[in-house]
Amino acid sequence: MKTIYEPAEDSFFLSEILKNILEKSNKKSEIKILEIGCGSGIQLQTIKKAGVKKGNILSCDINSEAVSHCKKLGFSSVKSDLFEKIKGKFDIITFNPPYLPEDKREPKDSKTATTGGKKGGELINKFLKQAKSHLAKNGKIILLTSSLTQGIKWQNYKKKLLGKKKFFFEELRVWELKII
Ligand SMILES: C[S@@+](CC[C@H](N)C(=O)[O-])C[C@H]1O[C@@H](n2cnc3c(N)ncnc32)[C@H](O)[C@@H]1O
Repeated sequence: MKTIYEPAEDSFFLSEILKNILEKSNKKSEIKILEIGCGSGIQLQTIKKAGVKKGNILSCDINSEAVSHCKKLGFSSVKSDLFEKIKGKFDIITFNPPYLPEDKREPKDSKTATTGGKKGGELINKFLKQAKSHLAKNGKIILLTSSLTQGIKWQNYKKKLLGKKKFFFEELRVWELKII
């Protein structure tokens, strides 16, 4: 049994930015949103609170405990490795990914939520590749990364830094990415 990622600084920072984006949007009731790696459901709750219809929000996680938990909260959620089980296109795709470089001392259980690969950016790179075919016209990705994440390949996305915040040992960054 894997534990569900407990909301931390990264979760709160992404949540704050999602709230700002959605509250400013005048089309929020029509927006279709996908969250990859929903964990505790903190982002799903922010998205709903900001005015997006529950029926327009889909989520997934590779951790079945997280999926069951988000379903209990009333959200649509499927067990999926990134986009493996995801069909359709979305106006916003958001991900607070595992972004840390591998640390051999970290327990296997928490690694799924925190470690993005040897350099940290490997899972993000897979995500960025797969996301392209799931973005609606003018759709965007809202992605969190850290100054500790190495090896990200941004491909041909147009990127805009929406916010950065320094914490004790890292700087968290939230990006808006669009297909050029
Ligand atoms: C840093 S946690 C973020 C959880 C939550 N969204 C938040 O903001 O607190 C990363 C989440 O991504 C999930 N995850 C890791 N690898 C995944 C993959 N390949 N496909 C889908 N979800 C994945 C983890 O299980 C975890 O719930």
